[in-house]
Amino acid sequence: MDFSLTGKVALITGGSRGIGRATALGFARAGADVVVTSRKLPDLEEVAEEIRGLGSKSLAVASHIGRLDDINALVNKVNEEFGRIDILINNAGTSPAIAPILDVDERLWDAIMNLNLKGLVFLSQAVARVMKEHDGGKIINVASIDGLRPEPMPNGTYAISKAGVLMATRVMAVEWAQYKIRVNAVAPGNVHTRLGDSRFEVIAGYEEELVKRTPMKRIAEPDEMVGAMIYLASDASSFVTGQTIVVDGGTMVA
Ligand SMILES: NC(=O)c1ccc[n+]([C@@H]2O[C@H](COP(=O)([O-])OP(=O)(O)OC[C@H]3O[C@@H](n4cnc5c(N)ncnc54)[C@H](OP(=O)(O)O)[C@@H]3O)[C@@H](O)[C@H]2O)c1
Repeated sequence: MDFSLTGKVALITGGSRGIGRATALGFARAGADVVVTSRKLPDLEEVAEEIRGLGSKSLAVASHIGRLDDINALVNKVNEEFGRIDILINNAGTSPAIAPILDVDERLWDAIMNLNLKGLVFLSQAVARVMKEHDGGKIINVASIDGLRPEPMPNGTYAISKAGVLMATRVMAVEWAQYKIRVNAVAPGNVHTRLGDSRFEVIAGYEEELVKRTPMKRIAEPDEMVGAMIYLASDASSFVTGQTIVVDGGTMVA
C-alpha cells in the first residue's frame, strides 16, 4: 500500500490557512512539492516557508480562483516552474454571507458560485489539460456535507454550490478516467477554521447546536481532513474515482 507523495507536484487552492494550509503541510510531510495559492501573497509566503522547512520545494502564487484570467496565469506559472502538476486540491471556498434563498441577491450568488463551482471546474479543466500530457494525475475537490443536505442555518446558496461540486467530481471522473486522471471529493463536516467559525459569530448557540448533532460531540481541526486527502492523492486509492469521502464525525448518519 503506497501512501507516499514523494516526487509529486501538488497545487493547493486556499492554501494560506485552514484546511488548505493543513493539507499543504501534510503533503510536504508525505514528500510532495507544494504550490499554494489564494488571494493574499504574504499569507502564502509564510506557508511556503514552512513547507521548505520540511524539505520540500514550494511556490506561493497569488490568484483569485473566481477569475478565469487568474486561473490560466496560475496554471502557466506552475507549469513553467515545475513542468507538470500531479495533484490538484480544489480547496478554496467561500460563504461571505448567510441568506435564505428568498433573500439571496445576484451579487452574493455570483460570489459563491464563481469561486466554489465555476472556478473549481475551470481550474480543473486547465490542470487536466496539463495532466493529460503527463500520464494523468489526481484531482480532489473539497465539497461539504452541506452538498449532501442543507445545513440547519439558511446557507442554501453555499449548499447548492457544494452539491454542484459533488456532481462536477463525478462528471470529471467519468470523462477523464481515459487520461488516467482520478477525480474524487472530500466532504468535511464542521471544522474550526476562519470560514467554519464565522457562522458561530452570526447565530448565537450555533456551535453548541452543531456539536449536539455530531455523534463525536466536537468540531474537527483542519489536520483531521488531511488523511483522506493523502489517501485520495496517493496510489493507495489507485482504483478509486468519482467518489466522496465524508469526514464529519458521524453527522450524516446521525
Ligand atoms: N470549515 C468548515 O467547517 C468546512 C466544512 C465543510 C467544507 N469546508 C470547505 O473547506 C474549504 C476550505 O475552507 P476552510 O474552512 O479551510 O476556510 P478558510 O480557513 O477561511 O480558508 C479559505 C481559503 O480560501 C482562500 N480563498 C478565499 N477566497 C478565495 C478566492 N476568491 N480565490 C482564491 N482563494 C480564495 C482563502 O485565502 P484568501 O482569503 O487570502 O484568498 C483561504 O486560503 C472550502 O471549500 C470550504 O467550503 C469547510
